[in-house]
Amino acid sequence: MRFRDKVVFVTGGTKGLGKAMAKAFLEEGARVGVNGRSNESVEQFQEEFRDTPARAFACDITDYSRMEAMAGKVVAEWGRVDVLVNNAGIVGPIASAEKTKKTDFDAVIDVNVKGSFYASQIFGRQMIEQGSGRIVSISSQVGLFGGKGFLAYAVGKGALQIMTRSLAFEWGRFGVTLCCVAPGFIKGGMNEGLIRRQPFVDFLSAKTPVGRMANVEELVGIVLFLASDEAQYINGETVVMDGGMTGFDQESLVDFISKGKPRA
Ligand SMILES: NC(=O)c1ccc[n+]([C@@H]2O[C@H](COP(=O)([O-])OP(=O)(O)OC[C@H]3O[C@@H](n4cnc5c(N)ncnc54)[C@H](OP(=O)(O)O)[C@@H]3O)[C@@H](O)[C@H]2O)c1
Repeated sequence: MRFRDKVVFVTGGTKGLGKAMAKAFLEEGARVGVNGRSNESVEQFQEEFRDTPARAFACDITDYSRMEAMAGKVVAEWGRVDVLVNNAGIVGPIASAEKTKKTDFDAVIDVNVKGSFYASQIFGRQMIEQGSGRIVSISSQVGLFGGKGFLAYAVGKGALQIMTRSLAFEWGRFGVTLCCVAPGFIKGGMNEGLIRRQPFVDFLSAKTPVGRMANVEELVGIVLFLASDEAQYINGETVVMDGGMTGFDQESLVDFISKGKPRA
């Protein structure tokens, strides 16, 4: 029970990967708060975890004052916050950079960057007051090297990595440490619809050195480790969890040199 009596908050924890994280923290003894925008997913979560110390809130992370009120309720009920997972995130429509609508770009940055900062600041102040705390943010492999068609998502996920580094510089001396995880493509969450299409799974598997997409449990395991006491000295770092996808493809270079043409 690595999180016995600890208080954990997972943003966007009502569904998808965040819900899997919330469940795992509960199994490890934590009291867990989550939020999401839709009342329906909040009610479903509360019903599914009704016999556990879990609380779900309908709260948009882009609404600073509602976030403050929600954090106030968490602290009033449980007295502290030990771990924040900045998980809530959206992708936005796929579009080339020159055709991306301003409103779509703004919406993605509002949730993925501003919302994650609001949560970090609001829960971080409580952690500073306590003299301890841990923040784990869910970035993405596109936040490392960028990517086509997802400009706002890539920019926002990159910003999360820099926010993590910057806050680590500022808050380490208060006992508050931070980490990021940059996953590749996971078989769950926002990909739930896509993974029902076998060609999509086959395409991504072929693009990944380990030959498959990541399982939800693999991300959950890393998040729990990074949130745990064992990982406290890892501060400001981004852990890439992508099966080698963002690595340099040496094999095709070798083919190119030896055969005079790139691997098909
Ligand atoms: N799935 C992947 O392969 C993958 C890979 C790399 C990184 N990630 C990252 O992992 C995180 C979780 O993704 P997921 O796949 O689990 O997505 P998901 O299934 O779409 O779940 C997203 C969660 O965030 C909540 N949310 C979205 N906008 C919100 C807002 N403004 N305020 C509060 N809650 C909000 C959603 O609840 P409501 O809809 O009710 O608001 C939902 O609970 C995201 O940051 C994503 O970018 C995912």
